[in-house]
Amino acid sequence: MAEEIAYSENAARSVKYSEIIPQLAALVEGERDVIANLANIVAVLKEAFGFFWVGFYMEKEGELVLGPFQGPVACTRIGFDEGVCGHAFTIGETVVVKNVEEFPGHIACSSESKSEIVLPLFGPEGRKVGVLDVDSDRLDDFSEADEAGLNAIVKIITERVL
Ligand code: SME
Repeated sequence: MAEEIAYSENAARSVKYSEIIPQLAALVEGERDVIANLANIVAVLKEAFGFFWVGFYMEKEGELVLGPFQGPVACTRIGFDEGVCGHAFTIGETVVVKNVEEFPGHIACSSESKSEIVLPLFGPEGRKVGVLDVDSDRLDDFSEADEAGLNAIVKIITERVL
């Protein structure tokens, strides 16, 4: 198993995604523990893109509970009707928020978080199991390149991790 992920430091995000995605697939292939794999995935995203906060919230007994993450301390539990994470989980679709202050019910774990993208996670049998939440300290920081790249990563999680 590769212990380092190689990517072009100054390349556009779309290039970085295309570089890291096959390496992430190979990285998780060698390990069967879900938490270990999710932890390495957020580490790669944090390192490659320098996102302010990146992590998972997993569905447990009717709410979302904090999972592996990188970044400042975060809220541990989010209701299905709360925040961007709860909304994305409930509708089962990716939600991009250009300015978190304009999203009704946004949960401000940190005042430095300005924009975010949340993708629902599905198990191999199609059941919703959680979300991947990526926060930026810049307004309107997530483009179609992020949506496509992160979608490819959640597909790897569905097919090879969960
Ligand atoms: N902003 C999120 C809460 C989680 S943190 O930002 C890490 C939300 O509104 O769902």
